[in-house]
Amino acid sequence: MVIIKVTQKPSTILFPVPTVLVTTQMGEGEPNIITIAWTGIMNSVPPTVYIGVQPIRYSHGKIKESGEYVINIPSVEQAKSVDYCGMVSGRDVNKFEETGLTAVPSTHVKPPLIKECPVNIECKVKQVISLGSHDIFIAEVLAVHYDENVLDENGRPDIGKIKPYGFCMGEYRSISDKLGTFGYSNKG
Ligand SMILES: Cc1cc2nc3c(=O)[nH]c(=O)nc-3n(C[C@H](O)[C@H](O)[C@H](O)COP(=O)(O)O)c2cc1C
Repeated sequence: MVIIKVTQKPSTILFPVPTVLVTTQMGEGEPNIITIAWTGIMNSVPPTVYIGVQPIRYSHGKIKESGEYVINIPSVEQAKSVDYCGMVSGRDVNKFEETGLTAVPSTHVKPPLIKECPVNIECKVKQVISLGSHDIFIAEVLAVHYDENVLDENGRPDIGKIKPYGFCMGEYRSISDKLGTFGYSNKG
């Protein structure tokens, strides 16, 4: 089969990427939620992650000033709320009230965990890099929380129970089929 490559202009065409709900809070102010797709792992020891946030976002100032955020990994059940939190601003609405999502206290930082999200990652900002459209908040992971019912008998997160999904060029897509396990190509 002949494959002809079509070259297009440079763009952020990488998929799937996760969509996460990032919670922010400054002092005793109201907590807010922002949907973020520009996020990922940067380092293993110490565990380090990042989020890319545009300076015009309401959440941006809160993260910059507090130096804290929580990444809440949604399951497919929260997909509509994730989209909604990316459509409206905390300047105008209380997203916890509008979505019915529940804020529960974190253990190490001020921004709350989202109870309905099966995985919650508490983060402390270590470095900010301005790249142009987005500021990259590089943060150390201080604690990770799991819903008890998404852990298997060995205490490992069960992806089949967490039911995460991916964001592909503007579409939310499930990632339900298991293709293999780490190292499966090199057995025997
Ligand atoms: C699927 C999705 C992914 C998004 N990813 C990002 C992102 O990575 N960075 C960003 O700055 N905004 C992103 N946004 C836009 C913000 O979530 C949106 O502007 C939100 O309303 C900002 O909320 P805030 O004003 O309360 O901070 C995304 C929106 C959606 C729907």
